[in-house]
Amino acid sequence: MAAPSGPGVRRRSGAAAVAPVALGDIVVDQHQRLSTGIGELDSVLGGGIVPGSLILIGGAPGIGKSTLTTMALANLLAAGRRTLYVSAEESAAQIRLRAERLSGDAALRIPVIAQTDLHTVLATLEQERPEVCVIDSVQTLHSSDLSGAAGSVAQVREVAGEIMRVAKARHIAVLLVGHVTKDGALAGPRVLEHMVDCVLAFEGERERTYRTLRALKNRFGPAHEAGVFEMRDHGLVEVLDASARFVGEATRAPGSVVLCAMEGSRPLLVEVQALVCRSELVPPRRVVSGLDRNRVALVLAVLGRHAGIGLGSADVFVNVVGGVRIDDPGADLAVALAVASAVRRTELRSSAGRPLACFGELGLTGELRTVAHGDRRLAEAQKFGLTPVVEPESHGTLRSAFAAALGGDDRPAAIAA
Ligand code: TYD
Ligand code: MG
Repeated sequence: MAAPSGPGVRRRSGAAAVAPVALGDIVVDQHQRLSTGIGELDSVLGGGIVPGSLILIGGAPGIGKSTLTTMALANLLAAGRRTLYVSAEESAAQIRLRAERLSGDAALRIPVIAQTDLHTVLATLEQERPEVCVIDSVQTLHSSDLSGAAGSVAQVREVAGEIMRVAKARHIAVLLVGHVTKDGALAGPRVLEHMVDCVLAFEGERERTYRTLRALKNRFGPAHEAGVFEMRDHGLVEVLDASARFVGEATRAPGSVVLCAMEGSRPLLVEVQALVCRSELVPPRRVVSGLDRNRVALVLAVLGRHAGIGLGSADVFVNVVGGVRIDDPGADLAVALAVASAVRRTELRSSAGRPLACFGELGLTGELRTVAHGDRRLAEAQKFGLTPVVEPESHGTLRSAFAAALGGDDRPAAIAA
């Protein structure tokens, strides 16, 4: 379409035009990243905190957001950085008690303010000019310019916007803590995710020890990078040998399979378990933890249509052991095999007394689809002696995978009470 021109085009304002610059001529200041001293957090961020950036850390209550951010500030402070911890949720005394639990004494030297008024916090940021600041949390700060309770959509937007304005102007990196709703979405407006440079999700189950930290968005590094943590008495500890732990604990019982998952760019072996029993309920129960519920529903539908495993009157429980959350299309086959093995009440065939390992995405027509990083998944399984792996390169369909893992048992399955 031709650009409008001629006398019909009105100049709307007196704004002066600016000269565009070729991208190649733009000077980029090389980001000097600030290390948080927590390897897994640094790598999820793509190599540490970019000065002046805005990082949103979302997670359910009790998952460890305050602990993680306190630990990061303590390490930054010990490395000579100016820090500030703003708590709009807990009293200064409560923050101190947490800091006392953490190993090392740097946490006790973090400057804190316990404030819920946004303007007080902004004024303090202007005066203190920290290099890195934690705002805990974006839902509990309140702006007196707006009506509405703290945490309302308008308030959250205002709080984040104002913090961002000061942070960008003063070159303060901000770790913005955010709450998530029951279904895992960040509470508050979606616009929050667009405003910030990075969105990290801290996931897992509060009563279990393992947690995953995942980058959902990262302007300065790869998204989907993830790290595994364990909550201990003295704070969060990085779990660097997660595959070894999960494989070591894998049960090999009927209903159990090892999934070669990808957590960002890293392979991770986890045990997926299923339990299937006759249901007294209409509709029957589908209880899923550590995986996407909709994805599991899809796998159950494919099992009914293409593998003769009808689960219409069965309760199905599917669980990733250890409380880690897997966000990977390659988990489909593990769910299918775990459920089939649970229904048939036979353990999956594997070699040398090791658990069976698998990965692959399920198509709606019962085909197995390849997923990213197949070679790295295979290599990780091999490292722990889990061969052969049932996967899309060697098995094109769910039927073929079942024949290998379940021994071609094609009888219609009877579901036990
Ligand atoms: P917290 O960081 O307060 O979670 P969030 O800010 O996400 O709500 O801590 C969560 C839980 O971790 C809390 O129940 C206490 C526990 N915890 C430990 O087990 N060990 C520790 O060293 C600390 C500091 C907390
Ligand atoms: Mg907290």
